[in-house]
Amino acid sequence: MIGAVEAIRVKGLSYSYSDGTKALEDIDLTINEGEKVVVVGPNGAGKTTFFLHLNGTIKNPGGDVWVFGKKISDLKIEERIHQVGVVFQDPDDQLFMPTVFDDVAFGPVNMGLDEKEVEMRVHKALSKVGLEDFEEKVPHNLSYGQKKRVALAAVLSMEPRVLVLDEPTANLDPKSRADFINLIIDLNEIDGITTIIAMHDVNALPALADRVYVLNKRVVAEGSPREIFSDWSLLKENSLEAPDVFKLFKVLNCFGYSSDDLPLSFDEAVEILTRTIEGTEGHIHLHIHEHTHKEISDVMNSYNHHRNGKE
Ligand SMILES: Nc1ncnc2c1ncn2[C@@H]1O[C@H](COP(=O)(O)OP(=O)(O)OP(=O)(O)O)[C@@H](O)[C@H]1O
Ligand SMILES: [Mg+2]
Repeated sequence: MIGAVEAIRVKGLSYSYSDGTKALEDIDLTINEGEKVVVVGPNGAGKTTFFLHLNGTIKNPGGDVWVFGKKISDLKIEERIHQVGVVFQDPDDQLFMPTVFDDVAFGPVNMGLDEKEVEMRVHKALSKVGLEDFEEKVPHNLSYGQKKRVALAAVLSMEPRVLVLDEPTANLDPKSRADFINLIIDLNEIDGITTIIAMHDVNALPALADRVYVLNKRVVAEGSPREIFSDWSLLKENSLEAPDVFKLFKVLNCFGYSSDDLPLSFDEAVEILTRTIEGTEGHIHLHIHEHTHKEISDVMNSYNHHRNGKE
């Protein structure tokens, strides 16, 4: 449920690193409680830098961040980590204790919770990420995908109201990726946690985004996934691409498939195809005419960055 409560509000946020690299310029945005927001943008666009502002890891006089109406600079650390949990891009940046239990317990212990409550939270968080039996394992020895899960559990154990995930699906196998995506959706839809995610995986994006921000030092665009993916010049300028199934339907249009409805996921593709075929008495007619290949090549050029796209 998306409420009218402002979870995050950012105003005039700019940030340069000490070596002079300008990472963020004048960011303004508002995210309401319960929303699923995805932030996209090319490598080096400032996504990670932006996320480090959301829980106050980077303390910044050059702009203001409010969390549930309170200025982040006025919040005590225990309050900050309880409001906003950030799962880092690289799990090795997050896990530093001798056992998985200790890593997941670290936040709750620092929040001053008693032993019983800490244990309960660790069990709950590890079972959410499917690692019930991992408490005594050494985080350093886990596989990358397992470390990602522990890093998420270490944040969930603080029961944050806002969950910020930096590249949660990168380098995961297909099943782990699907499990992670479903878990994030459940955390949002069942537990009501606001989710803010940076990701390059555009095929997974629609499931995780009510709204998308395109960040490239500044906020370049904001809109629904459909609005963002329909704007191919925006995509190109910001090294982004549309989901494969969206591009495939653009190509089908070149073959004479006449529906303007373009799917963002396979499920949507099946729905749209079913609707179209039912509306045409059981058939779709495709054809090749003299301009078809030129049209397909234009579509591929507008959406692709790699060499087959003649870029
Ligand atoms: N500690 C640092 N010192 C100096 N410059 C930095 C530091 N951390 C990041 N940068 C620079 O700030 C810019 C933004 O980096 P950031 O990591 O926020 O980008 P990103 O959008 O997360 O990229 P990616 O998609 O590759 O994860 C880059 O130019 C990067 O080189
Ligand atoms: Mg990053």
